[in-house]
Amino acid sequence: MDISATAIRWATERSEGLDVRFRHGDAFATEGSYDLVYDSGCFHHLPPHRRIGYLALLDRVLAPGGHFALTCFTAEEGTATPDADLYRQSGLSGGVGYSPDDLRWIFQDLTEVDLRRMTEEPPDSPAFGKSFLWTALFRKEVQRTDAGVRQAEKP
Ligand SMILES: C[S@@+](CC[C@H](N)C(=O)[O-])C[C@H]1O[C@@H](n2cnc3c(N)ncnc32)[C@H](O)[C@@H]1O
Repeated sequence: MDISATAIRWATERSEGLDVRFRHGDAFATEGSYDLVYDSGCFHHLPPHRRIGYLALLDRVLAPGGHFALTCFTAEEGTATPDADLYRQSGLSGGVGYSPDDLRWIFQDLTEVDLRRMTEEPPDSPAFGKSFLWTALFRKEVQRTDAGVRQAEKP
């Protein structure tokens, strides 16, 4: 899903022959329940106050036991400007850079499965890999109640 029609067009062109469905729209308007949510490069473009809505979105659409995967800027690639100062300047200087502890704090309601620097891939590689990005995997836990009903850990 992407809010940019151009991005959807490029993705469609590049995925010829693959069984992929692209959707043009605002990720924040996503409905439904998903076992896997993968954010490739969107989160770091959000201003700090939108993290609240982002967490609410994840809480809503990630099924209990589901996984959330994230690719975002490290603090070397994105801006290291403190959150409060981002509102004194215009724009996010290309994107917000995060530290592993920032990500652990923001996604503290999820269980960390993996959080590491992405492996750099050579220019001729068929795979994408840039070491200035974090790649992370979190899980939304399920818990069994006394009644034996499985439900999300957080309401
Ligand atoms: C760095 S690009 C990553 C593009 C692609 N996902 C990739 O991995 O190559 C960030 C993308 O996030 C999209 N985006 C920003 N806000 C969005 C939103 N609210 N809903 C859906 N897409 C959004 C932008 O249009 C842009 O294409």
